[in-house]
Amino acid sequence: MRREFIAGNWKMNLDRGGAVMLAERLRESLTNLDDIEIAVFPPAVYIQDVGRVLAGSNIGVGAQNLHWENEGAFTGELSAGMLKEVGADYVIIGHSERRQYFGETDDTVNKKLKKALESGLKPIVCVGERLEERESGRTIEVVDRQVRAALHSITLEEMAEVTIAYEPVWAIGTGRTATPQQAGEVHSFIRKLISELYEGDIAQRTRIQYGGSVKAKNIKELMAVEEIDGALVGGASLSADEFTKIVRYRE
Ligand code: PGA
Repeated sequence: MRREFIAGNWKMNLDRGGAVMLAERLRESLTNLDDIEIAVFPPAVYIQDVGRVLAGSNIGVGAQNLHWENEGAFTGELSAGMLKEVGADYVIIGHSERRQYFGETDDTVNKKLKKALESGLKPIVCVGERLEERESGRTIEVVDRQVRAALHSITLEEMAEVTIAYEPVWAIGTGRTATPQQAGEVHSFIRKLISELYEGDIAQRTRIQYGGSVKAKNIKELMAVEEIDGALVGGASLSADEFTKIVRYRE
């Protein structure tokens, strides 16, 4: 019922040549994969170059952030329209690094999500607890707050386009992955919450990715969990070989 979705967040890495080369290699290695949705998220200044390489392939391209206004005096920011114009189809919203270093709040996540949906960008909304929140037994409370706030006033129709990524902050870039059981518990909670917030079977149709130190060697056990519908991959998505192995985890 839910099409698997694996995304590569390149963060603030690579130069133009490196981004183009990585895209070229993925284009070659990720053919004949109709059952799985794939997208990469280069730095915004390389979206157009990467998009040109991946045009006509089964790999989509997205942005790592957007602003919620259409235009105006917002120095350094990029609008949904601008991102679409250079070829972005997807956007990551509320990544923990943006929450931690750039003042992203539950409220701005919600505004960005609304704008993305209104503009036809397919959003991946990130949620996840910090280490001290997990250790003090507040994981569910934090994720509950983040999901409710992000989805505030998002309609049932809009919800059909939303992907959620559960990324425990303590697992991002640390080499420490949530166990399949830990991830599964939070994913089940998120799905239950969506089923409370929306009528019908949308909760069953919403993809929930796991993110945080996903590698070729742990993807299989994570994907074996019924509630995990894909992955948001950071560091390992910068290697064509490693990302290919992650996407082709069944082979
Ligand atoms: P990581 O990052 O795979 O390097 O842990 C995941 C993410 O930040 O999306």
